[in-house]
Amino acid sequence: MSVSNPPESPCLVIDLNRVRANYRALQAALPSARIRFAVKASPVPEIIRLLNDEGAEFDVASVGEIELCLAQGVDPAVMCYGNPIKKAAHIAAAHAAGVRRFASDTEDDLVRIAEHAPGAEIELRFLASAPASQTPFGVKFGCAPGEAVQLLVRAHDLGLTIAGPYFHVGSQQLDPIAWQIGIEQAGAIAEALAAKDIPVKAVNIGGGLPISYADTAPGVDELGAVIAAAAARHLPEHTALIVEPGRALVGNTGVIHGEVVNVRQAPDGRRWIYLDIGRYNGMAETENEYIAYRFQTDRDGDPMDEVVVAGPTCDGDDVLYQRTRVLLPTTLRAGDPIRILETGAYTASYSSVSFNGFPPLTVHVIGAERE
Ligand SMILES: Cc1ncc(COP(=O)(O)O)c(C=O)c1O
Repeated sequence: MSVSNPPESPCLVIDLNRVRANYRALQAALPSARIRFAVKASPVPEIIRLLNDEGAEFDVASVGEIELCLAQGVDPAVMCYGNPIKKAAHIAAAHAAGVRRFASDTEDDLVRIAEHAPGAEIELRFLASAPASQTPFGVKFGCAPGEAVQLLVRAHDLGLTIAGPYFHVGSQQLDPIAWQIGIEQAGAIAEALAAKDIPVKAVNIGGGLPISYADTAPGVDELGAVIAAAAARHLPEHTALIVEPGRALVGNTGVIHGEVVNVRQAPDGRRWIYLDIGRYNGMAETENEYIAYRFQTDRDGDPMDEVVVAGPTCDGDDVLYQRTRVLLPTTLRAGDPIRILETGAYTASYSSVSFNGFPPLTVHVIGAERE
């Protein structure tokens, strides 16, 4: 990806053509699924408008994301307030804005939804017994699978509309079997509900679809085949499938253009490379070194050695990689440009407003919003 006049460093450059190609590739891999973009991955107006034109739905996590989508012309009927953690006032604001779909995982939240968004459609999030992903949610979200039926019956009794079960196998999930497990569990929930005369309309199989960073990830065709086979085997006929990706639609569409600020041999004997981009202005997913991004420089033909990569702030945690093996040219020096690849997801939106006085990461788009 290139940008003719690179704006001031650091910045994120997003290629809209690749967003469109990703959307279409996923639709081709899962032809019967409804694709719902998780806005939090890249809340960029041009991306939202493009995906809206392509026919996507939108997973929104807050009133702010609802307003952002509305401002881009998205119909609230295709938004789902997918965050199980929400105040009564925010449920009411979403409902007033026309949002009628909500995710939930507790009775408390269901009661609040019934009061402030009466009749709304519920996707009940359960904790699937899937293997851990690269950036796992732990047990923060989702009821126990055995509790899901009871909560859906409660939702029905509260006058809410039942969409069906919902799971998210954790972000950057590298094992396709995770969806097979989740779909099988969702199928058991659907069967138990059918026995109570509550039909399931849809199963939301969440996001988590991985992309290749330094390590290669399974592609959408492989995932699509596993998901389609599991759905055919475990879900009642005519159950709609909803897939809710963030990373898989936008991760490989962005490149961060940064600069080397300093190079030194540190007292630990290692070569440290300090960049103008770090944990607090876009590289949040390097926490615990979960995501191993790829770097590119203009000196990549020179000899390489292993380095520690750190960000620009005076914070000791602002170190991107010290365990992950990162190789950079031995000739790299202050002022050199450096590009960080596949940084289209969970970067700019994570950027702090002014930590250490550094401004948030700026975003520039290239490519065509409309074909
Ligand atoms: C509710 C919800 N849906 C979908 C996603 C998208 O996940 P991913 O980017 O891994 O596809 C997230 C990510 O945090 C989420 O919280």
